[in-house]
Amino acid sequence: MESIIQTAYLLASVSFIVAIKMLGSPKTARTGNLLGAAGMFLGIIATLLHREVVRYEWIAAGLAVGTGLGAWMALSVQMTAMPQMVAILNGFGGAASALVAIAEAERILLSTSSEAAYFTLSTIGLSVLIGAVTFSGSFIAFAKLQELITGRPITFPLHHYQSLILLIASIVGTIGYTLGGGTLLLYGLSAAAFLLGLWIALPVGGADMPVIVSFLNSLSGLAAAATGFVLNNYLLIISGTLVGASGLILTQIMSKAMNRSLWSVLFSAVGKSSATGTTQDKNIRSTTAEDVALMLSYAREVVIVPGYGMAVAQAQHAVKKLMDALTVKDVRVRFAIHPVAGRMPGHMNVLLAEADIPYEHLYEMEQINPDFPQVDTVLVIGANDVVNPAARKDTSSPLYGMPILDVDKAKTVIVLKRSMNPGFAGVENELFYQQNTYMLFGDARQSIEAITQALKNM
Ligand code: TAP
Repeated sequence: MESIIQTAYLLASVSFIVAIKMLGSPKTARTGNLLGAAGMFLGIIATLLHREVVRYEWIAAGLAVGTGLGAWMALSVQMTAMPQMVAILNGFGGAASALVAIAEAERILLSTSSEAAYFTLSTIGLSVLIGAVTFSGSFIAFAKLQELITGRPITFPLHHYQSLILLIASIVGTIGYTLGGGTLLLYGLSAAAFLLGLWIALPVGGADMPVIVSFLNSLSGLAAAATGFVLNNYLLIISGTLVGASGLILTQIMSKAMNRSLWSVLFSAVGKSSATGTTQDKNIRSTTAEDVALMLSYAREVVIVPGYGMAVAQAQHAVKKLMDALTVKDVRVRFAIHPVAGRMPGHMNVLLAEADIPYEHLYEMEQINPDFPQVDTVLVIGANDVVNPAARKDTSSPLYGMPILDVDKAKTVIVLKRSMNPGFAGVENELFYQQNTYMLFGDARQSIEAITQALKNM
């Protein structure tokens, strides 16, 4: 039986690795997802065959509750609420790792047979430390993204010193427990680590939230890997390490796309000073769907810039119809994709693929930026921060330094949004007041449907 289990674990691990590779391209992503799920199923079955499993009632109850909750979440959670969902799932992952490690610590305490090795005790300590940080940090991230608490940075006096003390206390607790300090020390260190998670996540705000979610995702993987060592379970070690490494790479990619370092995301409390600004004393040009249709029909080329608002409005299918209507009129249509448009990596790619917009029409920021000065019309659909010129020139802006799509350099810019409200980073956008910018206010889907109808009526 043991060799069957280990073979199944090996197959599951290989399927995880191949699945991650396949998730890297829109063409193979769906199959990759299925392969990963199949690997997980195999891993669960193999784990249930373990000799140590003596009773199945509790496992069956847990499976039923977990499956029910998972299915409900998958069916009901909006695409735009994905980051919150990832955050809460990371939190549960961290808590599970910490609880399993605590259970193992209690088991060691009760067993009279032999003293546990330093290595096992150290992995228990690490599991609890990383798991507790992930748990509390992720729940704060969830609460902020779900707007249960303010999304702005929350700091206390001498915040970073307090964090440092909590970090030192957690590390000392882990070392103490490893050296035989007993389970009381383990509970002490879990309390310190729990607070540390809160102290890490509370000061993060504004546009940095998804980065911290990705970082906590990576930590949840590391906690699982540490628990894998506690239980001597190879599948848990491998899958935990995969999550840890891929989460770190993703964090790095996101930080780079926002021109920020992970250090400054974690420790600079960005967003606190970001003002929403006043918009009353500047002029904007608002326009109508009919006028936009006219402008688009005269253009040789239109570049569409989708953003978070397109996701909120679920406008992707309407965008596809607009693209078709323009193509019929011999207008070239391209899509400019910013790496952090929306609320999760690849957010725009997923939505546009869902609407069957051919991948060849999608251009990365670096590819399309040099073309903007020659573009007749840019249609900005629910994007804001990723087209904010302040990122290029305003050193006081929290967005300063983030590479943006240079839409302000195009001949005409049309912005579709509902109001003058700022985007995720909470900063005003000069683009809206430019001479060549026209604002079309309203829900993006309704606006696009109206433009397409007006185009067809011409
Ligand atoms: P945002 O700057 O968040 O702006 C979205 C705009 O969409 C808002 O100004 C909003 O204006 C508009 N909107 C919302 N609902 C709408 C609807 N139904 N119809 C029309 N417009 C609607 O979006 P972005 O430009 O995509 O930038 C993404 C932000 O998230 C950046 O700050 C980025 O740094 C941050 N971020 C993203 C990621 C990833 S991985 N994607 C990671 C880290 C950070 P109204 O309310 O006026 O309509």
